[in-house]
Amino acid sequence: MRNTSGILAATVLILLCLVWVPVEAEEEMCVPMGEITLEPLTTEAKRSAVIFPHAVHFDYSCRECHHKWEKEKPILGCSASGCHDLAEMPKSDEGRPVKDPAVQIRYYKNAYHQMCIGCHMQIAKKNEALQASRMPGEAKIASTGPTGCIQCHPKE
Ligand code: HEC
Ligand code: HEC
Ligand code: HEC
Repeated sequence: MRNTSGILAATVLILLCLVWVPVEAEEEMCVPMGEITLEPLTTEAKRSAVIFPHAVHFDYSCRECHHKWEKEKPILGCSASGCHDLAEMPKSDEGRPVKDPAVQIRYYKNAYHQMCIGCHMQIAKKNEALQASRMPGEAKIASTGPTGCIQCHPKE
């Protein structure tokens, strides 16, 4: 079950399949090389969809993000059933947000924010520390991705 509401987990893949990774003898996996539009799981989204340049991230291991990938199988989307497939923050029977991190992370927004912003922020923090510890102009600043809301969710 990707999504019950019919919008479907709606990851619009721009399938520029320049790379085919053999998965099993007679099966190949199409790896999107261009931009992937990460659509919200809900029609009540507050923010615009996020354009994700996939191949810009290929200096990292695939499993940095596709952390459940077993190499013999095709890679599943992030909101595959049982993964980050909840369109809302899960609540207890009393209506309070669930505290268990393993449940919270099933809310797709938490998963994306933790992973995307988490990594970009980590690099930005290292850059700051580097700049603070050296003479101006001397620090080698690593490029990082966006950490601000509208950089990822441009106003529509
Ligand atoms: C920085 C994180 C990141 C890295 C690194 C990464 N990917 Fe992805 N990849 C994503 C995201 C996010 C999606 C979109 C998933 C979705 O729509 O649910 C995606 C989608 C895909 C898909 C399409 C899956 C589907 O939904 O059908 C394939 C195949 C894929 N990646 C292969 C790879 C391979 C091979 C590598 C290593 C060379 C790699 N990815 C590295 C984040 C990453
Ligand atoms: C493990 C670290 C890591 C993760 C996870 C990660 N990024 Fe990045 N991202 C980077 C780095 C490093 C760059 C800078 C790459 C460069 O400019 O060479 C970057 C660049 C970007 C850029 C700017 C690309 C450009 O051409 O300027 C966007 C947009 C972006 N990331 C979005 C995302 C989104 C959305 C996710 C989550 C689906 C994500 N990133 C996950 C490390 C990461
Ligand atoms: C590195 C990229 C990135 C940054 C920075 C980022 N987001 Fe997101 N956000 C995402 C992704 C990816 C999703 C899941 C896909 C989607 O909803 O389009 C998401 C989902 C959401 C959602 C749930 C869907 C919706 O629209 O209701 C909200 C709300 C949201 N983000 C708000 C924010 C706010 C507020 C900030 C700034 C504090 C922010 N985001 C910063 C990438 C980012």
